Amino acid sequence: MKILVLGSGAGGGYPQWNCNCELCGGLRRGSTHATPRTQSSIAVSADGERWLLLNASPDLGHQIRSNPPLHPRHGLRDSPIRAVMLLDAQIDHVTGLLSLREGPPIELYCTPSVFEELTTGLPILPTLEHYCGVHWHMLPIAGEQTAAEFRIDALPGLSFRALAIPGKAPPYSPRRNDPSVGDNIALLIEDTASGQRVFYAPGLASVGEPEMMWMQQADCVLVDGTFWTEDEMIEAGLGTKSASDMGHLPQVGRPGRPGMIPVLDRLNARRKLLIHVNNSNPILDERSDQRRMLAQHGIEVAHDGLEIDL
Ligand code: MLT
Ligand code: MN
Ligand code: ZN
Repeated sequence: MKILVLGSGAGGGYPQWNCNCELCGGLRRGSTHATPRTQSSIAVSADGERWLLLNASPDLGHQIRSNPPLHPRHGLRDSPIRAVMLLDAQIDHVTGLLSLREGPPIELYCTPSVFEELTTGLPILPTLEHYCGVHWHMLPIAGEQTAAEFRIDALPGLSFRALAIPGKAPPYSPRRNDPSVGDNIALLIEDTASGQRVFYAPGLASVGEPEMMWMQQADCVLVDGTFWTEDEMIEAGLGTKSASDMGHLPQVGRPGRPGMIPVLDRLNARRKLLIHVNNSNPILDERSDQRRMLAQHGIEVAHDGLEIDL
């Protein structure tokens, strides 16, 4: 299985357009050792020919342009992107759908909850009916059903398991503070020939037993790297929300609430990577103590353009 990291940043990307914090300003001035990041999305493929997009970032146009495996190859109009799967309905994960409007109907995989957000609060799907149209394939995660196993016809060689995970509905949702099953999912994708598996969860509010069980089955995990600490936005004067207010588990925990690092320490995966890194996170600075600490734990920070061969 091939995995292409199209974007490794959180909402706003890095540097964020209006941010002059030390990390964003430092990158612009050339004084911070870091690399720019677009908003998070990955593409996966069993054969390198047919690709599945996991989330559609507002930076999708740029991401496709900078990744040759996603360029058109056959005939006048063509794309190796065969389907799009959404893991939640957050703006940074869905608005790239609008950039696919010049193509054929989008083969879209998402839960009923995400479908509902995108037909009401943020009506991207009805809007797209006036352009390319959308074929919705329902991921049956709702109510009592917290996991599902499925295949995608257009992507032979891959099998999928989706799992409802703790998180928030998007800020625009009437259900923001009343989360329901299907608002946020994680995926375990398997290459059916090699048996290799990747676990993908760019937004993960906490790791309980089910999440742990699924992560333990993966050879590679790519998980929520949004924040280093719970109050990092508040302490930097960049915002009023904590990591848990936003549905993200920080890398470093607090008393009684361990962070992502000890979770990753418990896994045998060959590769452990953080993705969806917010512009406030000190791990962006390649020379930071925090980055060194991750390296000591065998944890990598995904970057735009990273290719993983599993
Ligand atoms: C998040 O990951 O919490 C959201 O992307 C925040 C946002 O949309 O600004
Ligand atoms: Mn986000
Ligand atoms: Zn910043």
